Amino acid sequence: MREFLRAPFTVAALTPSGRPLSEAVTATVPRTGEPLVVELGAGTGAFTAAIQQRLTGRGRHLAIEINARFAERLVARYPGVDLAVADARGLRDILTQRGHDRADVIVSGLPWAAFTPGRQDDLLDAVTDSLAPDGAFTTFAYAHTRWAPPALRLRRMLRARFEEVVPSRTLWANLPPAFVYYCRRPRTPLPTSASGSTNERVSQP
Ligand SMILES: C[S@@+](CC[C@H](N)C(=O)[O-])C[C@H]1O[C@@H](n2cnc3c(N)ncnc32)[C@H](O)[C@@H]1O
Repeated sequence: MREFLRAPFTVAALTPSGRPLSEAVTATVPRTGEPLVVELGAGTGAFTAAIQQRLTGRGRHLAIEINARFAERLVARYPGVDLAVADARGLRDILTQRGHDRADVIVSGLPWAAFTPGRQDDLLDAVTDSLAPDGAFTTFAYAHTRWAPPALRLRRMLRARFEEVVPSRTLWANLPPAFVYYCRRPRTPLPTSASGSTNERVSQP
């Protein structure tokens, strides 16, 4: 609550995500192998805990959180997580600095509806530039904002950037109720003529 009042357009939620949403958004983290999992906007760690549970010590888990106070708590609670206190727009450079290539899974806790079109664009560019071709990107949205312009814009942007975008059912048990987008097969570079494509991006205010 305190961090929301300090930075409402960055934190954008009064309470952490609940367990059903955390499990749904992290369902793409494989139960086998040594995946590189990137978590954007880790906050107080709702998705961090679920990712750690699925990894059971395997692979690598890089969390990126812009808020230094949240980051301090995360480091103390999850010493096994590699935490970058940074803007997720710099994801490509953060991976390079750590000697990583592309992520197998990117899980987002970012508050898309609170972002300007330009920021949404930059963040999604960072995601598609950093995701393996056979990787998965998941993010969530609140059900009550489903038809609001920023949420519709996010959906168009996701469809322009991924060949497959599958929304989940509504998770009524979360407060507030939410749903997840499961996105696969990043399109890089973006198409220039298809609807919901680059042309649409440049015409955004
Ligand atoms: C809605 S909260 C979600 C926190 C947590 N993942 C959860 O679901 O409970 C959004 C988080 O994203 C962080 N954030 C916002 N913009 C960011 C950015 N550009 N880069 C990294 N983190 C960001 C905020 O500081 C906040 O912790």
